[in-house]
Amino acid sequence: MIQKKRVLSGVQPTGNLHIGNYLGAIRNWVESQAEYENFFCVVDLHAITGSGNYRLELAENTRRTAALYIASGIDPELSTVFVQSHISAHAELAWLFNCITPLNWLERMIQFKEKALKQGENVNVGLLDYPVLMAADILLYQADYVPVGEDQKQHLELTRDIAVRINDQFGNKTHPVFKLPNPLIRKEGARVMSLIDGNSKMSKSDPSDFSRIHLLDNPDAIAKKIKKCKTDAERGLEFDNPNRPESHNLLSLYMILAGKTKEQVISECETMRGWGDFKPLLIETIIATLQPIQTKYAEVINESGYLDQVLANGREKAAEIAFDTLKSVKSAMGFLI
Ligand code: TYM
Repeated sequence: MIQKKRVLSGVQPTGNLHIGNYLGAIRNWVESQAEYENFFCVVDLHAITGSGNYRLELAENTRRTAALYIASGIDPELSTVFVQSHISAHAELAWLFNCITPLNWLERMIQFKEKALKQGENVNVGLLDYPVLMAADILLYQADYVPVGEDQKQHLELTRDIAVRINDQFGNKTHPVFKLPNPLIRKEGARVMSLIDGNSKMSKSDPSDFSRIHLLDNPDAIAKKIKKCKTDAERGLEFDNPNRPESHNLLSLYMILAGKTKEQVISECETMRGWGDFKPLLIETIIATLQPIQTKYAEVINESGYLDQVLANGREKAAEIAFDTLKSVKSAMGFLI
């Protein structure tokens, strides 16, 4: 039997997941899940690197995120769904990586610089170290592929650099310690932009709720957000005009969610007089995409014991591989095993 290639990815359980998380990551996990051996974790250890007080919501958000994976189409029979903090090997491997990762590799991470600027005085060491923990998540499972949105590309490059460094220092040509993982970044949906500023990424941490559509937004909220979203007064609707980022973002969202080609959308929009004609179509398409996810989510959350069982099974399966890898890395690094 041919061994399936292995996939690992994760989302932070901070606030509600939005359509950027769905299109950049989760939808792609679902589409390829039969082809690969999959590990999808809820990265709760990453979620405590922010500056807010998370304690009251962390456990609940972790459950909600796992439920949204399943509601979006992740099948626990085909994919291992688990919580990062349930497997202590993630934090332990991150420590081993800390001691071989040059500080300046982390200081040049774009996301660190952006988040550090936003968090002001409240920058903890964890925020800087965040990509090292992400490298541990991936390498612990010897993942072949990591499906993510475009904003994670630099973190994937760092993961490969860490793997190469460990292989060079502690492996040998015939027995590298780690496989080098490859990012899987789709062209479409890899960077969904904010609804109130077409030049910035849709993000969970944007203070305005109107900047994003949550996967659990009801039809009224979706309609309100799209009606209020930023557009421009130019004539016609067009893709790829750098001076009209909002136009490109809204048309792209429609194209992906409606499953249409660019040409189809262009010809559909040709006869439209403006945004007033287009927005109802986009609202309808978003509602139609999210409705089945929301129905399934309610089932998953309300079925007593179901989610806990999925996460317990996931924990067991993930632990087996993770602690095996950790042991071989420690042995390669010279620890007394
Ligand atoms: P996070 O929680 O910020 O985002 C989760 C996933 O959603 C993608 N994404 C987007 N895609 C398109 N458009 C957007 N506006 C958008 N916003 C977010 C992200 O690229 C990501 O794929 N560091 C990661 C979590 C992580 C991880 C890992 C991912 C931790 N360990 C190991 C893969 C493998 C993060 O903060 O994602």
